[in-house]
Amino acid sequence: MAASTLSPATFSQLCSSKNGMFSASNAQMVKSTRTHLAGREKNMKMIRCQATSIPADRVPDMAKRELMNWLLLGAISLPTAGMLIPYTSFFVPPGSGGAGEGTVAKDALGNDVIAAEWLKTHGPGDRTLTQGLKGDPTYLVVENDRTLATFGINAVCTHLGCVVPWNSAENKFICPCHGSQYSNQGRVVRGPAPLSLALAHADIDDGKVLFVPWVETDFRTGEAPWWA
Ligand code: FES
Repeated sequence: MAASTLSPATFSQLCSSKNGMFSASNAQMVKSTRTHLAGREKNMKMIRCQATSIPADRVPDMAKRELMNWLLLGAISLPTAGMLIPYTSFFVPPGSGGAGEGTVAKDALGNDVIAAEWLKTHGPGDRTLTQGLKGDPTYLVVENDRTLATFGINAVCTHLGCVVPWNSAENKFICPCHGSQYSNQGRVVRGPAPLSLALAHADIDDGKVLFVPWVETDFRTGEAPWWA
């Protein structure tokens, strides 16, 4: 039989080794040759086998393989974490930390709100949206004596989260989504909203308006703040 016609399975059976191991897939037929063997088996076709064998003492033990797996895991995890941390922090609003921290109010252009400048262009009774704690839209209130109120009103409706616009003609906040209404201080006066609008302290720090979390009693209801 010509060696070049042997199937891999047949070839694997023909090629055997006591000290090594190989399969039909890694066995290679080098060539068939005519070899004259001491005048006994003339013209006998010999098949010379060459196989990729792995001696048992060269197979890494389990401990080494586990070590390599951990090294590989570390090599993948560290760069991945290095990329994920700055990517995630991009979506965290600045100054959105826990209670006790403040956030400088931003106007519609993203500039810090300077109290004195604001009062030059916003008259008594004005309620204009700014960016507040955690980036929430928050009304800055100008009192009738042309001073800034010491509280800001979170504009997120307590029903399903629409931003509630100020209606100066009605002297109320009226939600366009389902008609909830809030007083000029954000107290709920008509549902379906179940709760009043959240509050934040509006302090002045170095001339800038600073929103600070409101954790005290809600002065509109006399109850503990639901948002704290
Ligand atoms: S979201 Fe404001 S009333 Fe429904």
